[in-house]
Amino acid sequence: MAVDLLLGLQWGDEGKGKIVDVLTSNYNIIARFQGGPNAGHTLKFDGIKHVLRTIPSGIFHKESINVIGNGVVVDPVVFIKELEGLDQFNIDYKAKLIVSRKAHLILPTHRLLDAASEASKGKAKIGSTLKGIGPTYMDKTGRNGIRVGDLELPDWKEKYRALANKHEAMIAFYNVDVQYDLEEMEVEFFDAIERLKELQFIDSEAYLHQALRDGKTILAEGAQGSLLDIDFGTYPFVTSSNTTAAGACTGLGIAPNQIKEVFGIFKAYTTRVGSGPFPTELFDEDGEEMARVGQEFGAVTGRPRRCGWLDLVALKYTCRVNGVTQLMMMKSDVLSGFKTLKVATAYKYKGETIEHLPFNIEPENVEPIYTSFKGWSEDLTKMSEASQLPKELNDYIDFLEKELEIPITIVSVGPDRKQTIFRD
Ligand code: GDP
Ligand code: IMO
Ligand code: MG
Repeated sequence: MAVDLLLGLQWGDEGKGKIVDVLTSNYNIIARFQGGPNAGHTLKFDGIKHVLRTIPSGIFHKESINVIGNGVVVDPVVFIKELEGLDQFNIDYKAKLIVSRKAHLILPTHRLLDAASEASKGKAKIGSTLKGIGPTYMDKTGRNGIRVGDLELPDWKEKYRALANKHEAMIAFYNVDVQYDLEEMEVEFFDAIERLKELQFIDSEAYLHQALRDGKTILAEGAQGSLLDIDFGTYPFVTSSNTTAAGACTGLGIAPNQIKEVFGIFKAYTTRVGSGPFPTELFDEDGEEMARVGQEFGAVTGRPRRCGWLDLVALKYTCRVNGVTQLMMMKSDVLSGFKTLKVATAYKYKGETIEHLPFNIEPENVEPIYTSFKGWSEDLTKMSEASQLPKELNDYIDFLEKELEIPITIVSVGPDRKQTIFRD
Protein backbone atom coordinates (compact mmCIF):
# COMPACT_ATOMS: atom_id res chain seq x y z
CA MET A 1 0.00 0.00 0.00
CA ALA A 2 2.60 2.52 -1.00
CA VAL A 3 3.86 4.70 -3.74
CA ASP A 4 7.49 4.60 -4.83
CA LEU A 5 8.96 7.57 -6.56
CA LEU A 6 11.61 7.77 -9.25
CA LEU A 7 13.24 11.05 -10.20
CA GLY A 8 16.36 12.59 -11.70
CA LEU A 9 18.94 14.17 -9.41
CA GLN A 10 20.82 16.27 -11.95
CA TRP A 11 19.74 18.41 -14.94
CA GLY A 12 17.59 15.75 -16.60
CA ASP A 13 18.32 12.92 -19.04
CA GLU A 14 19.76 10.75 -16.29
CA GLY A 15 18.11 7.64 -17.72
CA LYS A 16 14.74 7.75 -15.94
CA GLY A 17 12.88 6.16 -18.85
CA LYS A 18 15.19 3.16 -18.93
CA ILE A 19 14.87 2.46 -15.21
CA VAL A 20 11.10 2.97 -15.06
CA ASP A 21 10.83 0.39 -17.84
CA VAL A 22 13.14 -1.97 -15.93
CA LEU A 23 11.13 -1.59 -12.70
CA THR A 24 7.63 -1.62 -14.21
CA SER A 25 7.11 -5.35 -13.71
CA ASN A 26 7.11 -4.66 -9.93
CA TYR A 27 4.19 -2.20 -10.16
CA ASN A 28 0.54 -2.13 -11.20
CA ILE A 29 0.50 1.55 -12.11
CA ILE A 30 3.08 3.97 -13.51
CA ALA A 31 2.13 7.63 -13.09
CA ARG A 32 3.80 10.73 -14.52
CA PHE A 33 3.41 13.68 -12.17
CA GLN A 34 4.83 16.78 -13.85
CA GLY A 35 6.43 18.22 -16.96
CA GLY A 36 5.22 17.63 -20.47
CA PRO A 37 6.68 17.02 -23.90
CA ASN A 38 9.88 18.80 -22.90
CA ALA A 39 10.76 15.35 -21.54
CA GLY A 40 12.34 12.70 -23.72
CA HIS A 41 12.57 9.36 -21.94
CA THR A 42 14.48 6.70 -23.86
CA LEU A 43 13.82 2.97 -23.51
CA LYS A 44 15.68 0.23 -25.30
CA PHE A 45 14.82 -3.45 -25.58
CA ASP A 46 14.73 -6.14 -28.28
CA GLY A 47 17.03 -3.97 -30.38
CA ILE A 48 14.50 -1.12 -30.63
CA LYS A 49 14.83 2.34 -29.13
CA HIS A 50 11.72 4.28 -28.07
CA VAL A 51 11.53 7.91 -26.98
CA LEU A 52 8.51 8.81 -24.84
CA ARG A 53 7.47 12.40 -24.18
CA THR A 54 4.23 12.51 -22.20
CA ILE A 55 3.36 8.83 -22.00
CA PRO A 56 4.68 7.08 -18.88
CA SER A 57 7.56 4.67 -19.42
CA GLY A 58 5.57 1.62 -18.29
CA ILE A 59 3.50 1.57 -21.47
CA PHE A 60 5.28 -1.38 -23.09
CA HIS A 61 4.46 -3.79 -20.27
CA LYS A 62 1.23 -5.70 -20.83
CA GLU A 63 -0.10 -5.51 -17.30
CA SER A 64 0.69 -1.93 -16.34
CA ILE A 65 -1.78 0.96 -16.23
CA ASN A 66 -0.19 4.29 -17.15
CA VAL A 67 -1.55 7.49 -15.67
CA ILE A 68 -0.87 11.03 -16.85
CA GLY A 69 -1.33 12.96 -13.63
CA ASN A 70 -2.83 16.37 -12.93
CA GLY A 71 0.62 17.95 -12.64
CA VAL A 72 1.48 17.14 -16.26
CA VAL A 73 0.91 19.56 -19.14
CA VAL A 74 -0.36 17.83 -22.27
CA ASP A 75 0.11 19.01 -25.84
CA PRO A 76 -2.56 17.09 -27.79
CA VAL A 77 -0.61 17.48 -31.04
CA VAL A 78 2.61 15.99 -29.67
CA PHE A 79 0.68 13.41 -27.70
CA ILE A 80 -1.20 12.07 -30.72
CA LYS A 81 2.03 11.85 -32.71
CA GLU A 82 3.54 9.94 -29.82
CA LEU A 83 0.62 7.51 -29.87
CA GLU A 84 0.96 7.08 -33.63
CA GLY A 85 4.63 6.24 -33.17
CA LEU A 86 3.55 3.34 -30.98
CA ASP A 87 0.88 2.06 -33.36
CA GLN A 88 2.95 -0.89 -34.53
CA PHE A 89 3.23 -2.28 -30.97
CA ASN A 90 -0.47 -3.07 -30.56
CA ILE A 91 -0.89 -1.28 -27.28
CA ASP A 92 -4.45 -1.07 -26.00
CA TYR A 93 -4.37 2.65 -25.12
CA LYS A 94 -7.99 2.83 -24.20
CA ALA A 95 -7.43 0.36 -21.41
CA LYS A 96 -3.84 1.08 -20.46
CA LEU A 97 -3.43 4.84 -20.71
CA ILE A 98 -5.55 7.25 -18.71
CA VAL A 99 -5.39 11.01 -18.38
CA SER A 100 -6.23 13.22 -15.42
CA ARG A 101 -9.07 15.68 -16.02
CA LYS A 102 -7.03 18.19 -14.07
CA ALA A 103 -3.98 18.08 -16.36
CA HIS A 104 -3.53 21.36 -18.23
CA LEU A 105 -3.46 21.64 -22.01
CA ILE A 106 -0.63 23.17 -23.99
CA LEU A 107 -2.22 25.33 -26.69
CA PRO A 108 -0.56 26.24 -30.01
CA THR A 109 -0.21 29.82 -28.74
CA HIS A 110 1.66 28.57 -25.65
CA ARG A 111 4.32 27.22 -27.98
CA LEU A 112 4.44 30.54 -29.83
CA LEU A 113 4.69 32.46 -26.56
CA ASP A 114 7.60 30.24 -25.51
CA ALA A 115 9.40 31.12 -28.75
CA ALA A 116 8.62 34.84 -28.41
CA SER A 117 9.79 34.91 -24.79
CA GLU A 118 13.04 33.16 -25.64
CA ALA A 119 13.67 35.40 -28.67
CA SER A 120 13.13 38.48 -26.52
CA LYS A 121 15.75 37.33 -24.01
CA GLY A 122 18.61 37.22 -26.50
CA LYS A 123 21.74 35.86 -24.83
CA ALA A 124 19.93 35.41 -21.52
CA LYS A 125 17.57 32.82 -22.99
CA ILE A 126 16.74 29.77 -20.87
CA GLY A 127 17.43 27.34 -23.71
CA SER A 128 13.84 26.10 -23.45
CA THR A 129 12.77 23.11 -25.51
CA LEU A 130 10.14 25.51 -26.99
CA LYS A 131 7.31 23.10 -26.24
CA GLY A 132 5.22 25.78 -24.50
CA ILE A 133 5.94 24.50 -21.00
CA GLY A 134 6.62 27.85 -19.27
CA PRO A 135 3.58 29.69 -20.71
CA THR A 136 1.26 26.75 -19.92
CA TYR A 137 2.33 26.58 -16.27
CA MET A 138 2.04 30.39 -16.13
CA ASP A 139 -1.58 30.13 -17.21
CA LYS A 140 -2.11 27.34 -14.68
CA THR A 141 -0.84 29.37 -11.72
CA GLY A 142 -2.43 32.52 -13.19
CA ARG A 143 -5.74 30.59 -13.12
CA ASN A 144 -6.40 30.99 -16.81
CA GLY A 145 -5.52 27.53 -18.06
CA ILE A 146 -7.65 25.02 -19.94
CA ARG A 147 -7.72 21.53 -18.50
CA VAL A 148 -8.33 18.15 -20.06
CA GLY A 149 -11.66 17.93 -18.17
CA ASP A 150 -12.79 21.18 -19.81
CA LEU A 151 -12.93 19.32 -23.12
CA GLU A 152 -16.01 17.50 -21.80
CA LEU A 153 -17.83 20.83 -21.28
CA PRO A 154 -19.78 22.59 -24.05
CA ASP A 155 -18.16 26.02 -23.69
CA TRP A 156 -14.50 25.10 -23.80
CA LYS A 157 -13.95 26.49 -27.32
CA GLU A 158 -15.09 29.95 -26.18
CA LYS A 159 -12.63 29.78 -23.33
CA TYR A 160 -10.00 28.66 -25.80
CA ARG A 161 -10.69 31.57 -28.19
CA ALA A 162 -10.49 34.17 -25.44
CA LEU A 163 -7.19 32.77 -24.19
CA ALA A 164 -5.70 32.42 -27.69
CA ASN A 165 -6.67 36.04 -28.47
CA LYS A 166 -4.94 37.20 -25.32
CA HIS A 167 -1.86 35.17 -26.23
CA GLU A 168 -1.74 36.74 -29.69
CA ALA A 169 -1.73 40.19 -28.12
CA MET A 170 1.09 39.07 -25.81
CA ILE A 171 3.09 37.71 -28.75
CA ALA A 172 2.71 41.07 -30.52
CA PHE A 173 3.84 42.83 -27.34
CA TYR A 174 7.14 40.93 -27.38
CA ASN A 175 7.81 42.56 -30.74
CA VAL A 176 10.13 39.80 -31.99
CA ASP A 177 10.23 37.87 -35.21
CA VAL A 178 7.95 34.87 -34.62
CA GLN A 179 6.25 33.76 -37.83
CA TYR A 180 3.11 31.69 -37.56
CA ASP A 181 -0.15 30.69 -39.13
CA LEU A 182 -2.49 30.12 -36.21
CA GLU A 183 -5.34 28.89 -38.37
CA GLU A 184 -3.17 26.10 -39.68
CA MET A 185 -1.94 25.25 -36.20
CA GLU A 186 -5.52 25.17 -34.94
CA VAL A 187 -6.63 22.65 -37.58
CA GLU A 188 -3.96 20.28 -36.30
CA PHE A 189 -4.79 21.11 -32.67
CA PHE A 190 -8.55 20.55 -32.90
CA ASP A 191 -8.00 17.35 -34.81
CA ALA A 192 -5.63 16.13 -32.09
CA ILE A 193 -8.18 17.08 -29.41
CA GLU A 194 -10.79 14.84 -31.05
CA ARG A 195 -8.33 11.95 -30.99
CA LEU A 196 -7.32 12.70 -27.40
CA LYS A 197 -11.00 12.45 -26.42
CA GLU A 198 -10.95 8.79 -27.44
CA LEU A 199 -8.86 8.09 -24.32
CA GLN A 200 -10.22 7.75 -20.79
CA PHE A 201 -10.28 10.99 -18.80
CA ILE A 202 -10.42 10.34 -15.07
CA ASP A 203 -10.31 12.01 -11.67
CA SER A 204 -6.84 10.60 -11.26
CA GLU A 205 -6.42 11.38 -7.58
CA ALA A 206 -9.57 9.41 -6.76
CA TYR A 207 -8.41 6.60 -9.05
CA LEU A 208 -5.03 6.40 -7.34
CA HIS A 209 -6.54 6.56 -3.85
CA GLN A 210 -8.80 3.65 -4.71
CA ALA A 211 -5.90 1.75 -6.25
CA LEU A 212 -3.95 2.13 -3.02
CA ARG A 213 -6.92 0.93 -0.98
CA ASP A 214 -7.11 -2.10 -3.28
CA GLY A 215 -3.49 -2.92 -2.50
CA LYS A 216 -2.10 -1.86 -5.89
CA THR A 217 1.45 -0.66 -6.24
CA ILE A 218 2.31 2.64 -7.89
CA LEU A 219 5.56 4.01 -9.30
CA ALA A 220 5.56 7.78 -9.82
CA GLU A 221 7.77 8.80 -12.74
CA GLY A 222 9.45 12.18 -12.65
CA ALA A 223 10.54 14.21 -15.64
CA GLN A 224 13.47 16.63 -15.96
CA GLY A 225 15.84 16.68 -12.98
CA SER A 226 16.02 18.18 -9.51
CA LEU A 227 18.41 20.95 -10.58
CA LEU A 228 15.73 22.07 -13.06
CA ASP A 229 13.12 22.35 -10.26
CA ILE A 230 11.29 25.68 -10.29
CA ASP A 231 12.08 26.26 -6.58
CA PHE A 232 15.29 24.35 -5.92
CA GLY A 233 16.97 24.36 -9.32
CA THR A 234 19.37 26.84 -10.87
CA TYR A 235 16.71 29.52 -11.31
CA PRO A 236 15.91 31.07 -13.75
CA PHE A 237 17.55 28.37 -15.89
CA VAL A 238 15.01 25.77 -14.85
CA THR A 239 11.75 24.30 -16.04
CA SER A 240 8.39 25.53 -14.72
CA SER A 241 7.34 22.64 -12.48
CA ASN A 242 8.43 21.01 -9.24
CA THR A 243 10.57 18.15 -10.45
CA THR A 244 11.46 17.14 -6.89
CA ALA A 245 9.66 14.67 -4.60
CA ALA A 246 7.05 17.17 -3.43
CA GLY A 247 5.93 17.47 -7.07
CA ALA A 248 4.67 13.89 -6.90
CA CYS A 249 2.28 14.87 -4.09
CA THR A 250 0.88 17.90 -5.89
CA GLY A 251 1.08 16.29 -9.32
CA LEU A 252 -0.83 13.13 -8.39
CA GLY A 253 -2.75 13.98 -5.24
CA ILE A 254 -0.73 11.53 -3.20
CA ALA A 255 -0.06 12.32 0.45
CA PRO A 256 3.58 12.50 1.67
CA ASN A 257 3.08 9.63 4.12
CA GLN A 258 2.10 7.32 1.24
CA ILE A 259 5.53 7.61 -0.36
CA LYS A 260 7.87 4.78 0.51
CA GLU A 261 11.00 4.47 -1.61
CA VAL A 262 12.49 7.46 -3.41
CA PHE A 263 14.74 6.26 -6.23
CA GLY A 264 17.23 8.94 -7.18
CA ILE A 265 18.83 8.53 -10.60
CA PHE A 266 22.13 10.11 -11.56
CA LYS A 267 24.70 9.71 -14.29
CA ALA A 268 28.21 8.66 -13.21
CA TYR A 269 29.19 12.09 -14.59
CA THR A 270 27.03 15.16 -15.27
CA THR A 271 25.29 16.61 -18.32
CA ARG A 272 23.14 19.62 -18.98
CA VAL A 273 21.27 20.77 -22.08
CA GLY A 274 20.23 24.41 -22.41
CA SER A 275 21.63 27.47 -20.66
CA GLY A 276 22.61 28.03 -17.04
CA PRO A 277 25.43 27.44 -14.60
CA PHE A 278 27.22 24.08 -14.47
CA PRO A 279 30.24 24.24 -12.12
CA THR A 280 31.91 20.97 -13.16
CA GLU A 281 31.45 21.51 -16.91
CA LEU A 282 34.42 20.41 -19.03
CA PHE A 283 35.65 22.20 -22.11
CA ASP A 284 38.48 19.76 -22.85
CA GLU A 285 39.03 16.32 -24.36
CA ASP A 286 37.54 14.57 -21.33
CA GLY A 287 34.24 16.41 -21.88
CA GLU A 288 34.33 15.61 -25.59
CA GLU A 289 34.98 11.96 -24.82
CA MET A 290 31.97 11.78 -22.46
CA ALA A 291 29.77 13.37 -25.12
CA ARG A 292 31.05 11.02 -27.81
CA VAL A 293 30.87 7.75 -25.88
CA GLY A 294 27.69 8.70 -24.02
CA GLN A 295 26.08 9.98 -27.24
CA GLU A 296 25.06 13.07 -25.37
CA PHE A 297 22.51 14.64 -27.66
CA GLY A 298 19.08 15.72 -26.43
CA ALA A 299 16.30 13.16 -27.02
CA VAL A 300 13.81 16.00 -27.73
CA THR A 301 15.77 18.73 -29.49
CA GLY A 302 18.88 16.87 -30.68
CA ARG A 303 21.00 19.63 -29.10
CA PRO A 304 24.45 18.55 -27.84
CA ARG A 305 24.49 18.10 -24.07
CA ARG A 306 27.19 19.87 -22.08
CA CYS A 307 29.30 17.34 -20.13
CA GLY A 308 31.34 17.44 -16.92
CA TRP A 309 32.48 15.55 -13.83
CA LEU A 310 30.14 14.33 -11.16
CA ASP A 311 29.21 17.10 -8.73
CA LEU A 312 28.78 15.68 -5.25
CA VAL A 313 27.93 19.07 -3.74
CA ALA A 314 24.91 19.30 -6.03
CA LEU A 315 24.08 15.61 -5.61
CA LYS A 316 24.05 15.83 -1.79
CA TYR A 317 21.69 18.77 -2.08
CA THR A 318 19.26 17.00 -4.40
CA CYS A 319 19.36 13.80 -2.32
CA ARG A 320 18.26 15.86 0.70
CA VAL A 321 15.59 17.86 -1.07
CA ASN A 322 14.06 14.60 -2.32
CA GLY A 323 14.64 12.31 0.64
CA VAL A 324 16.30 9.76 -1.63
CA THR A 325 16.34 6.24 -0.16
CA GLN A 326 18.08 4.41 -3.03
CA LEU A 327 20.48 5.64 -5.67
CA MET A 328 20.84 4.38 -9.22
CA MET A 329 24.02 5.20 -11.10
CA MET A 330 23.56 5.41 -14.85
CA LYS A 331 25.95 5.34 -17.81
CA SER A 332 28.82 3.92 -15.78
CA ASP A 333 30.05 2.24 -19.00
CA VAL A 334 30.75 5.67 -20.51
CA LEU A 335 33.58 6.25 -18.02
CA SER A 336 35.53 3.13 -19.06
CA GLY A 337 38.93 4.11 -20.41
CA PHE A 338 39.37 7.37 -18.49
CA LYS A 339 42.75 7.21 -16.71
CA THR A 340 41.60 9.52 -13.94
CA LEU A 341 38.09 10.38 -12.81
CA LYS A 342 37.20 13.43 -10.79
CA VAL A 343 34.37 14.20 -8.42
CA ALA A 344 33.67 17.70 -7.06
CA THR A 345 33.46 17.35 -3.29
CA ALA A 346 33.40 21.04 -2.33
CA TYR A 347 33.30 24.50 -3.87
CA LYS A 348 35.58 27.45 -3.35
CA TYR A 349 33.10 30.27 -2.75
CA LYS A 350 34.05 33.85 -1.87
CA GLY A 351 37.46 32.68 -0.64
CA GLU A 352 36.00 29.93 1.55
CA THR A 353 35.59 26.19 1.08
CA ILE A 354 31.94 25.20 1.29
CA GLU A 355 30.18 21.89 0.94
CA HIS A 356 26.65 23.10 0.27
CA LEU A 357 25.07 24.55 -2.85
CA PRO A 358 25.05 28.34 -2.47
CA PHE A 359 22.40 30.70 -3.87
CA ASN A 360 24.55 31.53 -6.84
CA ILE A 361 26.66 28.92 -8.66
CA GLU A 362 27.75 30.92 -11.70
CA PRO A 363 31.38 30.22 -12.71
CA GLU A 364 32.51 33.60 -11.32
CA ASN A 365 31.19 32.60 -7.88
CA VAL A 366 32.16 28.97 -7.43
CA GLU A 367 35.17 26.89 -8.29
CA PRO A 368 34.85 23.13 -7.77
CA ILE A 369 37.38 21.33 -5.59
CA TYR A 370 37.97 17.82 -6.91
CA THR A 371 38.88 14.44 -5.48
CA SER A 372 40.55 12.19 -8.07
CA PHE A 373 40.04 8.48 -8.64
CA LYS A 374 41.88 5.91 -10.67
CA GLY A 375 39.79 4.92 -13.69
CA TRP A 376 39.15 1.45 -15.13
CA SER A 377 39.60 0.18 -18.65
CA GLU A 378 37.24 -2.82 -18.68
CA ASP A 379 34.21 -2.73 -20.98
CA LEU A 380 31.22 -2.91 -18.64
CA THR A 381 28.52 -3.27 -21.26
CA LYS A 382 28.44 -7.09 -21.21
CA MET A 383 28.55 -7.41 -17.43
CA SER A 384 25.43 -8.56 -15.65
CA GLU A 385 26.46 -9.06 -12.02
CA ALA A 386 27.91 -6.80 -9.35
CA SER A 387 30.73 -9.30 -8.76
CA GLN A 388 32.05 -8.59 -12.28
CA LEU A 389 32.52 -4.85 -11.74
CA PRO A 390 36.16 -3.68 -11.70
CA LYS A 391 37.80 -2.72 -8.42
CA GLU A 392 38.24 0.92 -9.43
CA LEU A 393 34.51 1.26 -10.17
CA ASN A 394 33.71 -0.34 -6.82
CA ASP A 395 36.01 2.20 -5.15
CA TYR A 396 34.15 5.00 -6.94
CA ILE A 397 30.79 3.56 -5.83
CA ASP A 398 31.96 3.04 -2.23
CA PHE A 399 33.13 6.62 -2.04
CA LEU A 400 29.80 7.98 -3.32
CA GLU A 401 27.76 5.78 -0.99
CA LYS A 402 29.83 6.89 1.99
CA GLU A 403 29.57 10.58 1.11
CA LEU A 404 25.85 10.48 0.27
CA GLU A 405 24.95 7.97 3.01
CA ILE A 406 22.53 6.25 0.62
CA PRO A 407 23.01 2.84 -1.04
CA ILE A 408 23.53 2.58 -4.80
CA THR A 409 21.23 -0.31 -5.67
CA ILE A 410 21.46 -0.23 -9.47
CA VAL A 411 24.48 0.32 -11.70
CA SER A 412 23.51 0.79 -15.33
CA VAL A 413 26.07 -0.31 -17.92
CA GLY A 414 24.31 0.38 -21.22
CA PRO A 415 21.04 1.69 -22.68
CA ASP A 416 19.34 -1.71 -22.97
CA ARG A 417 16.92 -3.06 -20.36
CA LYS A 418 19.28 -5.98 -19.84
CA GLN A 419 22.34 -3.83 -19.18
CA THR A 420 21.28 -3.27 -15.59
CA ILE A 421 23.18 -4.54 -12.57
CA PHE A 422 21.36 -4.88 -9.25
CA ARG A 423 23.43 -4.53 -6.07
CA ASP A 424 22.35 -5.81 -2.64
P1 GDP B 1 15.69 10.41 -19.31
O1 GDP B 1 15.15 11.68 -19.87
O2 GDP B 1 16.13 10.55 -17.89
O3 GDP B 1 14.76 9.24 -19.49
O4 GDP B 1 17.01 10.09 -20.12
P2 GDP B 1 17.19 10.21 -21.73
O5 GDP B 1 16.50 9.08 -22.35
O6 GDP B 1 16.87 11.57 -22.21
O7 GDP B 1 18.76 10.11 -21.86
C1 GDP B 1 19.47 8.99 -21.41
C2 GDP B 1 20.23 8.42 -22.62
O8 GDP B 1 21.19 7.52 -22.17
C3 GDP B 1 19.35 7.64 -23.55
O9 GDP B 1 19.87 7.73 -24.86
C4 GDP B 1 19.48 6.20 -23.03
O10 GDP B 1 19.24 5.23 -24.03
C5 GDP B 1 20.91 6.20 -22.62
N1 GDP B 1 21.23 5.34 -21.47
C6 GDP B 1 20.52 5.06 -20.37
N2 GDP B 1 21.23 4.33 -19.50
C7 GDP B 1 22.42 4.14 -20.07
C8 GDP B 1 23.63 3.48 -19.65
O11 GDP B 1 23.75 2.93 -18.56
N3 GDP B 1 24.69 3.51 -20.51
C9 GDP B 1 24.62 4.13 -21.72
N4 GDP B 1 25.71 4.11 -22.49
N5 GDP B 1 23.52 4.75 -22.14
C10 GDP B 1 22.45 4.77 -21.33
P1 IMO C 1 13.88 14.74 -19.30
O1 IMO C 1 12.59 14.35 -18.63
C1 IMO C 1 16.98 17.74 -19.90
C2 IMO C 1 15.71 21.92 -19.90
C3 IMO C 1 15.78 22.69 -21.20
C4 IMO C 1 16.02 24.08 -20.67
C5 IMO C 1 15.17 24.12 -19.41
C6 IMO C 1 13.79 24.72 -19.61
O2 IMO C 1 14.07 14.11 -20.63
O3 IMO C 1 15.03 14.52 -18.37
P2 IMO C 1 11.55 23.98 -20.80
O4 IMO C 1 11.30 23.45 -22.17
O5 IMO C 1 11.13 23.11 -19.70
O6 IMO C 1 11.02 25.38 -20.65
O7 IMO C 1 13.15 24.13 -20.72
O8 IMO C 1 15.04 22.78 -19.00
N1 IMO C 1 14.93 20.67 -19.97
C7 IMO C 1 15.46 19.45 -19.94
N2 IMO C 1 16.76 19.07 -19.94
N3 IMO C 1 16.00 16.82 -19.82
C8 IMO C 1 14.71 17.19 -19.80
O9 IMO C 1 13.70 16.30 -19.60
C9 IMO C 1 14.39 18.56 -19.91
N4 IMO C 1 13.24 19.27 -19.94
C10 IMO C 1 13.58 20.55 -19.97
O10 IMO C 1 16.84 22.23 -21.99
O11 IMO C 1 17.36 24.22 -20.28
MG1 MG D 1 15.49 12.96 -21.51
